[in-house]
Amino acid sequence: MASKHKYEDPWPHPDGATAPQLPAALVPRHVAVVMDGNGRWANQRGLPRTEGHRAGEHALMEVMAGAVESGVSHVSVYGFSTENWKRSPNEIRFIMGYSKEVLRRQRDVLHAWGVRIRWSGRRPKLWRSVIRELEAAEELTQDNTRATLTMCVNYGGRAEIADAVQRIAQKAATGELDPRRVRESTVAAHLDEPDMPDVDLFLRSSGEQRISNFLLWQSAYAEMVFLDTLWPDVDRTTLWEAMKIYARRDRRYGGAVDSVAG
Ligand code: IPE
Ligand code: IPE
Ligand code: MG
Repeated sequence: MASKHKYEDPWPHPDGATAPQLPAALVPRHVAVVMDGNGRWANQRGLPRTEGHRAGEHALMEVMAGAVESGVSHVSVYGFSTENWKRSPNEIRFIMGYSKEVLRRQRDVLHAWGVRIRWSGRRPKLWRSVIRELEAAEELTQDNTRATLTMCVNYGGRAEIADAVQRIAQKAATGELDPRRVRESTVAAHLDEPDMPDVDLFLRSSGEQRISNFLLWQSAYAEMVFLDTLWPDVDRTTLWEAMKIYARRDRRYGGAVDSVAG
């Protein structure tokens, strides 16, 4: 089993940037990342959209380096949504093929850093060869404890909740579960990754300000940070900028404190 003393540290940031010094309580435990803006990045350069996806690999590795260096223990990245099947066959083919390559190329690096890789998403429609690479990465890294990277591929928040409801209904039908005892915790326990903590920081690149069906259940009380940087231009300093914004937020979870001025 991997011991944390054996883990390698990520390569240093080329400009020597270092992680922000935040009190531990202000470091998000779980960061959800919508890796958006690849197509626009490419088209702005006169390139086809697929070149933007290719350029996004570096940003993903940078963000994981930034997470490891700043003590973020859970990162979930949106790689392909249940809605992305609407794209052209050519773009879908590229994303599937490229996902396989990235997993093959980077899983050993992530393993060396002590990152545990998980896959969350639906099986139907997803290329079997992509599922194989995702599962191989899960197996290779299963004992790592420094950070968890959940790759959300063929993932949709509503699909995940619907699948959980289906599992619960099946158990109720067979008498394994009493329908009157279904609670929030019952739903949470039947999600794809029941051990995934709630999202603290929800980060989206490219300036779009929407959730696009990512981690709906887990983000109920997430702090939303939308940055304009297009995904291929993102590096670990983008994550750290979002973490500094997050650290200034006042999380109330529905509570309130009376603080009358004067
Ligand atoms: C995000 O970039 C990557 C995926 C959805 C796979 P986009 O491909 O959505 O790029 P834009 O938003 O069109 O620029
Ligand atoms: C969300 O981005 C999905 C991923 C980043 C994988 P999209 O680009 O697909 O979302 P919309 O279409 O802008 O909502
Ligand atoms: Mg997009």
